[in-house]
Amino acid sequence: MLTASGLSRSFRLPRRSVFGPAAVRHAVRDVSLALAPGERLGVVGESGSGKSTLLRLLLALDRPDAGEVEFRGRPVRPGGDLGWFRREVQMVPQDPYGSLNPRMRVGDSVREPLECLKVPGDHTAKVAELLASVGLDADAASRYPHQFSGGQRQRIAIARALGPEPAVLLADEPFSALDVVVRAQVLALVQDLVDRLGLALVLVSHDIGVVQQLCDRVLVLKDGVAVEAGATADVLRAPEHPYTRALLAAVPRLPEV
Ligand SMILES: Nc1ncnc2c1ncn2[C@@H]1O[C@H](COP(=O)(O)OP(=O)(O)O)[C@@H](O)[C@H]1O
Ligand SMILES: [Mg+2]
Repeated sequence: MLTASGLSRSFRLPRRSVFGPAAVRHAVRDVSLALAPGERLGVVGESGSGKSTLLRLLLALDRPDAGEVEFRGRPVRPGGDLGWFRREVQMVPQDPYGSLNPRMRVGDSVREPLECLKVPGDHTAKVAELLASVGLDADAASRYPHQFSGGQRQRIAIARALGPEPAVLLADEPFSALDVVVRAQVLALVQDLVDRLGLALVLVSHDIGVVQQLCDRVLVLKDGVAVEAGATADVLRAPEHPYTRALLAAVPRLPEV
């Protein structure tokens, strides 16, 4: 359904000296992936390994230097009319504090993508339904983001993403700004929604426990290169690449399941 072939993206770094050549950072190098309907792919790697850049390329928020993203066989390129794509592929942001407009009532924030993407139906009823589906009261719609906790704001951001009834959610570290207890609750919510709605998911996380819980497959990035990919259970049980082993060794071991 969502495919990427040979994606590369590099950034020019500030010159160290006026004489030297400008250095280039290859953030993502020749990465390919394919996501089937309902499939959940975790993207892991240490900080700076290119996870966010890859996600931005998949969302057509950034243009690759090489390679192509396709959705249901149609090319997805930044700049064009992407309404058709945005209705089907939605993003859950990392930071629930920065992602909502502080001057907009929560109901209007959730309603906005419905209007922008011309989703048919009664938007007021839909907003109430969306807020309920993420465990918030209907009166949340008339309040402002600062009146909510971080976990509640992340629920609002999830409700906003679900509005257009997408087939795929792309999420960049969606739990990392939350404290432990709230993280577990929002994780359970995402798991429940993804199961119930049959959504496909691309989840970027440095937390392998989260990926183990939510994802069928995992892609390991190191310096922008996909060094390992496979079924989550296989990769975590018997990582082939030394880098994956090092990543796993760096996290507290989870009990065997
Ligand atoms: N807009 C940018 N300009 C310059 N360098 C960038 C930019 N975005 C990302 N990078 C660099 O690309 C590399 C990968 O970054 P990123 O995709 O954010 O990694 P991750 O999300 O895995 O931490 C890093 O070295 C980062 O500094
Ligand atoms: Mg990142």
